[in-house]
Amino acid sequence: MSKYIVSINGKFKAARQATVSVLDHGFLFGDSVYEVVRTVDGNLFAADRHLRRLRASAAAIGLKLPHNEDWFVRHMRAMHRKKPKSESYLRVIVTRGVGLLDLHPESCKSPTVVGIAKALPRWDDDFYAHGCKIILAGVRRNLKQATDPAVKSGNYLNNVLALTEAKADGAVEAVMLNAEGFLTECTTSNIFIVKDKVIKTPSLDQGLLEGVTRGFILNVCTNLKLPVQETRLTGEDLLSADEVFITSTTRDVMPVCQIGKHRVKLTPGSMTLKIANAYHDILHAKANHL
Ligand SMILES: Cc1ncc(COP(=O)(O)O)c(C=O)c1O
Repeated sequence: MSKYIVSINGKFKAARQATVSVLDHGFLFGDSVYEVVRTVDGNLFAADRHLRRLRASAAAIGLKLPHNEDWFVRHMRAMHRKKPKSESYLRVIVTRGVGLLDLHPESCKSPTVVGIAKALPRWDDDFYAHGCKIILAGVRRNLKQATDPAVKSGNYLNNVLALTEAKADGAVEAVMLNAEGFLTECTTSNIFIVKDKVIKTPSLDQGLLEGVTRGFILNVCTNLKLPVQETRLTGEDLLSADEVFITSTTRDVMPVCQIGKHRVKLTPGSMTLKIANAYHDILHAKANHL
């Protein structure tokens, strides 16, 4: 049995037979948007937030979603049910659809909706106990004035290249600078630092995806009365931080122990652990399950 459950326009297909036309503009031009939702205790976690972001991403590129939120929720639940028993990683992709071999989307009459589910990947326990290695990538995050990184689109080539740099250096993630040289985010996660007990993360105006996990972490900090700042951060801020951690739907809160050759002072630090524990409670709170 394939490790993937796949659907195209709502119809489940064997993964090998699930194909998209070469004339689909998602394939030709990366003209698509997507989301990844995970399950917790078999329920969709924060699906409302992810679907709001999917709608915002689609609106930002002038793509009308062919279904409402209820449809996506029902479909993701159906994908989860088709899998062997485990927590799920549920990806939904909406492309511009099939059209002419021409950049302009006017020939694309209906979007293609692809669903792909697999078991939620488990990261190495050691990363949570002792931290993971990341690098500061040479590849820059694209400008907000280009394909805005706030849009979760099919254009991930800069991230692919940055992750390739990371893997070549034995790291699991790469943090990217914007064109002005300030920190933005990692290839599939947001970054936080702790300095003198203050938690800091790049502000949205630096050009980054507004991570769902990032949003929960900012709430956690406020609720725990931990000082938190969304601000402009430099590579120097990163290297002089007391603690560093990254966040994402699949990673939760993952401490960072090394940035390139530089060792982070505390891994995992006490603030990171406090935040990770509070996030664990959020993951299991029924109010966040659909
Ligand atoms: C570029 C980028 N930044 C940040 C994140 C983390 O976002 P979330 O917490 O919503 O998973 C992702 C997730 O895939 C991402 O692709």
